[in-house]
Amino acid sequence: MNKRPIIIDTDPGIDDALAIAIALYSEELDVKLITTVAGNVGIDKTTYNALRLLKFFDKENIPVAVGADKPLIRPYEDASSVHGKSGMEGYEFEDPTVAPITENAVNAMRKVIMESKEAITIVAIGPLTNIALLLKVYPEVKENIKEVVMMGGSASRGNKGVMSEYNVGVDPEAAYILFHSGLDITMVGLDVGMKALVLPEDSEAIKSMNKTGDMAYCLFKKYRGGSFNTGLKMYDSTAIAYLLAPEIYEVVDTYIDVELAGTMTAGCTLVDLRGYLKQPNNAKVCIDIDADKFREWFKESIRKCI
Ligand code: RIB
Ligand code: CA
Repeated sequence: MNKRPIIIDTDPGIDDALAIAIALYSEELDVKLITTVAGNVGIDKTTYNALRLLKFFDKENIPVAVGADKPLIRPYEDASSVHGKSGMEGYEFEDPTVAPITENAVNAMRKVIMESKEAITIVAIGPLTNIALLLKVYPEVKENIKEVVMMGGSASRGNKGVMSEYNVGVDPEAAYILFHSGLDITMVGLDVGMKALVLPEDSEAIKSMNKTGDMAYCLFKKYRGGSFNTGLKMYDSTAIAYLLAPEIYEVVDTYIDVELAGTMTAGCTLVDLRGYLKQPNNAKVCIDIDADKFREWFKESIRKCI
């Protein structure tokens, strides 16, 4: 099967870790590059975590490039309260045996995209700072980007602020640049992320599946994105699920903009489902999910890992 070439831009992060695992062991995806960004924890930790994950998955052949250490304009805000100080609290990973590549994330993404025979899909599961910088510094990359699938935003309420989801809320200007880039974008936001829950019985099932399941279980015990006993939110895996199991979603074409000036609503994604803003559609949004199908997909995906 011809695998879809992808770049994963990430801030691992416990939910990032599972999304990366599923992508790495999918028969349908070819992970060409992992780029890191400051988000859940600082750039040094997200980069170290990405390297530790590739060591764990025996995939250190995949290059890791270091990205932005802060948002474009606003002060950086972490989410260590959700992921722990290390960003992947709960499991003792071995140290990586490779270092990040010398090129920074933006230059590395440009190289992979411009040299690829097949258009690249960018899977963004952290703040969009690197993606915005790439599009501003090297706009020519747009000709060989198939689409951007981003975990972030919300058609309703937030998880960072009243109206802002974390990835968009940390760097709203970066998200604004993406949504005004003209690229094919799919927003996989809280509308599905809040429902994509791993229940206790799912955690118990994956624990004994394999090494990845055991690792995931240990991380889940510390993860504060939801609760172990009522359901853990697998936000970032929903972006991978869009590529591998799109049938679990209800997807609509719409216009999405990002509030930048609001004193209380900065980082809010305005998902204009009813056309109030009278703008042409610029994105797809996953507006609903079959949560049971997601749970089954998630478990089957972990089963494919080591
Ligand atoms: O809002 C959820 C997003 O913020 C996820 O990507 C999670 O890892 C955090 O980065
Ligand atoms: Ca993330």
